[in-house]
Amino acid sequence: MTVEWIQGEVVSIKHWTESLYSIRIKAPEVKFIAGQYTKISLKINDEDIARPYSFVNSPNEDFLEFYSVQVPDGPLSSELQKLKSGDPINVGPYGNGFLILNEIPCVENIWMLATGTGIGPYLSILKTDESWNKFKKVILVHAVRYKKELTYLKTIKELKDKYKDKFIYITYVSREKIENSLEGRIPNSISSGILEKEANTKITDNNTHIMICGNPEMVSDTTKELKKIGLKKHRRNSPGHITTENYW
Ligand SMILES: Cc1cc2nc3c(=O)[nH]c(=O)nc-3n(C[C@H](O)[C@H](O)[C@H](O)COP(=O)(O)OP(=O)(O)OC[C@H]3O[C@@H](n4cnc5c(N)ncnc54)[C@H](O)[C@@H]3O)c2cc1C
Ligand SMILES: NC(=O)c1ccc[n+]([C@@H]2O[C@H](COP(=O)([O-])OP(=O)(O)OC[C@H]3O[C@@H](n4cnc5c(N)ncnc54)[C@H](OP(=O)(O)O)[C@@H]3O)[C@@H](O)[C@H]2O)c1
Repeated sequence: MTVEWIQGEVVSIKHWTESLYSIRIKAPEVKFIAGQYTKISLKINDEDIARPYSFVNSPNEDFLEFYSVQVPDGPLSSELQKLKSGDPINVGPYGNGFLILNEIPCVENIWMLATGTGIGPYLSILKTDESWNKFKKVILVHAVRYKKELTYLKTIKELKDKYKDKFIYITYVSREKIENSLEGRIPNSISSGILEKEANTKITDNNTHIMICGNPEMVSDTTKELKKIGLKKHRRNSPGHITTENYW
């Protein structure tokens, strides 16, 4: 199937670390719902290389933003990292995917669990009013290897200042010991009860929905732990509690 690309232009690129960066793109024709992804593409050695990327901006901002990690020898992520403002870049014309709020049942507490760049779609969602009107509490959980990979802290602080106790932000740093972050991995701390304790919020089958995004092993290990405490995958024709998106 041929994709009809929209030719965008890089506005700016922010390098958070040696491997993490965010690209802002001007491509006003692109349409999506907060939480979705589209494909982005570059011509590399005369070949179009395209990969899915989640929008970090909300639909009412006048730029697109994508948050990316340069994976070792990754064909597209290595080239995206070198872009400069003014460079052309192809973007898919519309968003895809079901990590969106109108697919989520009305519950009290929404949990948004991410590893690495998987935090991106949640930031898009949290910039819309809907997430704050629909739920009593929003719990954003970001797991990374190193402290320097806890990015978008300014955006998160702005949300915290605005939504106060309604918004809970929990971090995991797995490969160094730092203050105010949990150690280890998300699934283990579900079974031990540490995550619920940290959020001061119970995960139950009648007040909770959990979105999970990023590393597919984390998605599957976390889903297994949640199933053990009575939660089940959410499907349109069989409502449940868990909505997932694997990044590879
Ligand atoms: C629905 C969807 C949405 C996505 N959204 C994003 C996004 O917003 N930001 C983003 O960085 N990536 C995202 N990805 C992954 C992205 O499409 C690319 O795979 C990634 O950028 C690497 O591209 P590449 O061509 O350099 O290497 P690839 O050949 O595509 O990947 C090589 C290997 O790198 C690892 N890898 C791929 N993506 C990641 C990642 N994000 N974090 C850690 N390891 C990874 C995997 O082991 C993979 O097998 C998404 C993927 C899907 C399916
Ligand atoms: N070039 C660079 O300098 C550089 C820097 C960072 C990343 N990268 C590359 O980027 C890619 C990975 O990025 P990433 O940091 O987002 O990786 P990641 O491996 O997905 O790690 C992110 C977080 O997820 C955790 N995790 C991994 N597997 C899990 C599981 N099964 N269950 C629960 N949690 C799990 C990790 O914990 P653990 O620490 O316990 O695994 C870590 O806290 C790799 O290809 C990496 O080589 C490159």
